Amino acid sequence: MGKCYPVVSEEYQKAIEKAKRKLRGFIAEKNCAPLMLRLAWHSAGTFCKDSKTGGPFGTMRFKSELAHGANNGLDIAVRLLEPIKEQFPILSYADFYQLAGVVAVEVTGGPEVPFHPGREDKPEPPPEGRLPDATKGSDHLRDVFYTMGLSDQDIVALSGGHTLGRAHKERSGFEGPWTTNPLIFDKSYFTELLTGEKEGLLQLASDKALLSDPVFRPLVEKYAADEDAFFADYAEAHQKLSELGFADA
Ligand code: HEM
Repeated sequence: MGKCYPVVSEEYQKAIEKAKRKLRGFIAEKNCAPLMLRLAWHSAGTFCKDSKTGGPFGTMRFKSELAHGANNGLDIAVRLLEPIKEQFPILSYADFYQLAGVVAVEVTGGPEVPFHPGREDKPEPPPEGRLPDATKGSDHLRDVFYTMGLSDQDIVALSGGHTLGRAHKERSGFEGPWTTNPLIFDKSYFTELLTGEKEGLLQLASDKALLSDPVFRPLVEKYAADEDAFFADYAEAHQKLSELGFADA
C-alpha cells in the first residue's frame, strides 16, 4: 500500500531529532531496549485493518490500556519515558513511543528502521484481546497478524524481536531470555530456535510454531543463516508495524 506521509513543521522535525538523541543515551544507559521495543510493538499491534481502530497512536499513555493483561510491565516503560517526553511537548505520544522502538533496535546493534513522524494521538484505547497469545500456534499468529494487515514474512521477521529481552514470571507467567545475549540485536533468536530447547533459554509455543509451519520454517532457516537477510526483512516489517493505519494513501 502506498504511503502519503504528512509534512511536519521544522520545529517538530527538530524535536524528533533531539528526542532521538536523548532516547539513544537513555535506553543505552538504562539497558531498557527490550522493554521499549515491547512497548512500541504492543502499541502498534492492536491495529485492525478492517475497522481501522487501534494501532500506534499513543493510547498506551492511558491506564486502561496498560491494564490489559498482555501489557503487564509496560507501565514501567511509560513511566521511564515520561521525563524525556516532558522535554518535547510538541511531539505526539504516538510518534514518541514508536521512535523509542526504532531507537531500541538501533542502539542494540540492529538495523536502522526508517522513521516518519506525524502520527496523531487517538483519544481512546482499543479493546483488549488483540495481541497474540504465547500458548498458541501458527493459525492464531496468522489470525492476529493478518488482522493488522501483516504477512507471513512479517510474522517470522518480527518474531526475531525476541532476540532482545526476556520474559518475567510476574508479568507474563513465563521466565527467561530467548538468547544468551538479550541486549544485543542479532540473528541468535533464529539460531537458538533451530538448536532446540536449552536449559535457561525460553521458547514459547508461539516461537516453536515457526518451526513446524511449512511457510514459516524456511524463513527461520534463512534468517539463521543470513543476518543481512534478517535485518533487511526485519527493518521492513518493523517499519510497516510502526506505520499501521498511519499515512495510508
Ligand atoms: C508473535 C507473537 C508474540 C508473542 C506471543 C509474544 C509474547 C511475548 C511474551 C509472553 C513476552 C514476555 C513478557 C514478559 O514477561 O516480560 C514477550 C516479551 C518480549 N517481546 Fe514478544 N511476543 C510476540 C511478538 C513480538 C514481536 C513482534 C516483538 C517485536 C518486534 C516482540 C518483542 C518482545 C520483546 C523485546 C520482549 C522482551 C521484553 C522485556 O525484556 O522486558 N514480541 N513477548
